[in-house]
Amino acid sequence: MPLDFRRRYENYIEIWDPIVYALWALRLTTLKAIKRDGIAALTSFPKLLAEGFALWYRTLNTHFVRFENTTALPTLVGSAEGIVLELGPGLGNQLPRLNQDKVEHIYGIESNEFFIPELRDKVVECGLVDKYTVLAAGVEDTNVLEKSGVDYETVDTILSVQVLCSVNDPEAVAKDLYKVLKPGDYTGLWNRTWSCLIGGCNMNRDILSILRGAGEWEGFGTLDGDEEPWSVLPRAWGTLVKPIKRFS
Ligand SMILES: C[S@@+](CC[C@H](N)C(=O)[O-])C[C@H]1O[C@@H](n2cnc3c(N)ncnc32)[C@H](O)[C@@H]1O
Repeated sequence: MPLDFRRRYENYIEIWDPIVYALWALRLTTLKAIKRDGIAALTSFPKLLAEGFALWYRTLNTHFVRFENTTALPTLVGSAEGIVLELGPGLGNQLPRLNQDKVEHIYGIESNEFFIPELRDKVVECGLVDKYTVLAAGVEDTNVLEKSGVDYETVDTILSVQVLCSVNDPEAVAKDLYKVLKPGDYTGLWNRTWSCLIGGCNMNRDILSILRGAGEWEGFGTLDGDEEPWSVLPRAWGTLVKPIKRFS
């Protein structure tokens, strides 16, 4: 194995910038909330974290989009078709990358209330008002999905871009998502097998094993990734297909 000091160094350094911004965002959000609601604001810490995460994401967003444009992500998102379930759309960064001719309808399920207004604006900006339903809920909330018609084997594409790292009980979520996917269709994924400090993400989550445990898939061999033995932020991306059951 080559020592590759330069790339190792860049990998170790890469994590610190987002962490510094995360602490800055959390401090700013907390001070703002205390000014507004007094010290009582501290009792709803999860809300402060959610607001801080939204500020962090918004602040760094142009860098995320610019970086993603140099990757396979735009092509992957552009291949989404039919009924699409987008997990955690955030600010709606993936919306301009969708091929609207291929997409019939998109359900975007987002748990952070502080992203929702900008997500709705993005839906309008991208001309997707008739095609995009914003669901303000967690992906764990199968009731919300069912009520919207996202039910057993109704979805052609699940788009998951850096989200499964932060859901609660990812094994159960992956199994539920597997159920809503139509056989023969696919799940597009671009997941970090780590994730970020705020927003409840876990840096040590093995997303690929979790997906493997959700059910039978075709396409594991075709997934791509940039994991190195020393990677702090390894990513994996590609397309998995739920196989069509053949009865003999
Ligand atoms: C790293 S951001 C990625 C945003 C977006 N997918 C993108 O590509 O720009 C993770 C997003 O997932 C959302 N999220 C985290 N946990 C979630 C959950 N349990 N249900 C729905 N959304 C969730 C976060 O609020 C955030 O918007």
